[in-house]
Amino acid sequence: MKYPGAKTVLIPDIMQIFLGSRKRSFVDVFGGSGIVSLNTTIKDVVYNEIDPELSNLFRHLKEHPERIIKILRETVNSGSLPDNNQIRNLCSKPGTIDAAFGTLMRFTVSFGGMGDTYNTREKSTLGYARKTLGQMESITAKVKSWKIENMDFRELFKKYDSPYTFFYMDPPYSDRRWYNYNFTGQDYEDLRVIMTQIEGKYLMTVDRDDDYVYEIFGKPQLTMEYENKNQDTSVGFLPPRVKSFYTNIKVGTQS
Ligand SMILES: C[S@@+](CC[C@H](N)C(=O)[O-])C[C@H]1O[C@@H](n2cnc3c(N)ncnc32)[C@H](O)[C@@H]1O
Repeated sequence: MKYPGAKTVLIPDIMQIFLGSRKRSFVDVFGGSGIVSLNTTIKDVVYNEIDPELSNLFRHLKEHPERIIKILRETVNSGSLPDNNQIRNLCSKPGTIDAAFGTLMRFTVSFGGMGDTYNTREKSTLGYARKTLGQMESITAKVKSWKIENMDFRELFKKYDSPYTFFYMDPPYSDRRWYNYNFTGQDYEDLRVIMTQIEGKYLMTVDRDDDYVYEIFGKPQLTMEYENKNQDTSVGFLPPRVKSFYTNIKVGTQS
């Protein structure tokens, strides 16, 4: 899915830290597009997302994979994706398979799924949906073994904290209102306190340049640079993106 803030480039580093933790269970606290959990080979995954639309999508991918695949195949074969109104209509039935498919379409045809850049006949969005269809068997095979939750992070920690658990945290940005559910100062503060109290291990990744987060969480254990893939030659070279890694696991020296 075209999900804002998806953490594709960080996945190998997240996995290395998870493997080093020797924990059994991987809890994706702020699961979003699911891209992090989908790119692991871990069986014991908890995908959590407070946005009920996303959690509903993953629940249906787990419980009715063949139905979602069938609807997606029929849509792709028809040569056009649902338009803005049709997507809104599908999403207006919370909890249903229609809503799950609507959510998948919403984040296929527009970046961020906010509905402002719909272009359903555009070749690239149809190609994107076709690519998703091609990956659906392996996506649903993974999701099958997941636990899917739709909880606020505070409740999630209460339910899953144990000496065997690894929590991966990719919280919303402090300076961008990209999601239906964004973060307040109190949310960061609660997360900070939870991080000092849990029995399990954790890793939180955030933008190094987020001063607000820095003020709350202090110096990270590690920073990592990632090539900026959004290069646009007309505006000059964009510098690498730098991410801060906060963790209670012993990791390598700061880069
Ligand atoms: C930066 S995004 C996560 C992106 C995800 N790691 C990915 O790669 O697609 C942060 C997510 O946190 C969710 N969120 C916001 N407030 C939350 C809360 N109180 N509890 C759990 N999730 C929350 C948002 O809906 C959003 O999807």
